[in-house]
Amino acid sequence: AQTPVKVTVTGAAGQIGYALLFRIASGQLLGADVPVKLSLLEIPQAVKAAEGTAMELDDCAFPLLSGIEVTDDANKAFDGASVALLVGARPRTAGMERGDLLQANGGIFGPQGKAINDNAADDIRVLVVGNPANTNALIAQQHAPDVPAERFTAMTRLDHNRALSQLAAKLQVPVTEVKKMTIWGNHSATQYPDLYHAEVGGKIAAEQVDEAWLRDTFIPTVAKRGAAIIEARGASSAASAANAAIDHVYDWVNGSEWTSAAIPSDGSYGVPEGLISSFPVVSRDGRWEIIQGLEIDAFSRERIDASVRELEEERAAVRQLGLI
Ligand code: NAI
Repeated sequence: AQTPVKVTVTGAAGQIGYALLFRIASGQLLGADVPVKLSLLEIPQAVKAAEGTAMELDDCAFPLLSGIEVTDDANKAFDGASVALLVGARPRTAGMERGDLLQANGGIFGPQGKAINDNAADDIRVLVVGNPANTNALIAQQHAPDVPAERFTAMTRLDHNRALSQLAAKLQVPVTEVKKMTIWGNHSATQYPDLYHAEVGGKIAAEQVDEAWLRDTFIPTVAKRGAAIIEARGASSAASAANAAIDHVYDWVNGSEWTSAAIPSDGSYGVPEGLISSFPVVSRDGRWEIIQGLEIDAFSRERIDASVRELEEERAAVRQLGLI
């Protein structure tokens, strides 16, 4: 039998954790024939709740789940891990300045990056979900000099899936008809969902909707969907975020067609090298590759640049705080 793959989930007692762990254990993260070992990392106050979730995981008798550990020790949690889903983060609370937010998250993602560096398996792949996801991923990466930089990614797949769904609804086609969708930039309100390369029925999506809808409805609906979910549900997106994390890692490991992921920039499309920014990507041989050679019109250029500028500002701020 195949050796189980160790998957570490931080923030395991949170709401995304609860929506995520059962799907990992059922085989949806890596494939229906890959046994997994789960490691649940939490802060001490939440270890007991994570243990409760572990009891429920036991009670599912998942054939692919070969073991579960629950810990508040990052070195232990990442020991031998091949996949790390960094979900636990410090949320922005009322009145919190950006510097405070970055500082608090630096205190989480710096040490976790080091623990990954020192303990994880050679094939470790990291997906950061906890916000501000792109910059948290950068912080973790900078504390893991022995891990190839490209193994640190941040999640824009939920934004991507939201964009697919909004466009499909508008054009009244199944989501499977929408191809070549791209989210560019930061996982934040500045993100740019691009319909100038997306295709429906083999034709450019932007040409099938009116410009006002694209600009005034589509882009803000996708970018502000997280806030709309909070408003409606009284809690932030959880199952859809977990679903997107599953999509991201599954595709990374097993290959994919055109999708979106925040990965370290190699300078493509004018995005400064090293920033963890969302791009149009495919996954091949276990690596994300940026789709090259796309023409960027002026409308898109302006929006990509604005989101990338925000990422540069966040990088400058964490540098200034000494977090990287
Ligand atoms: P939650 O508050 O329900 O759970 C977070 C969990 O993380 C808590 O159990 C907490 O104890 C734990 N935690 C905090 N610090 C930790 C540490 N140092 N080590 C281990 N665990 C730690 O939050 P929820 O709803 O599960 O969301 C988690 C994060 O995901 C948030 O930052 C949220 O903003 C982000 N998010 C990102 C999305 C994306 O598209 N990239 C979409 C939705 C949410």
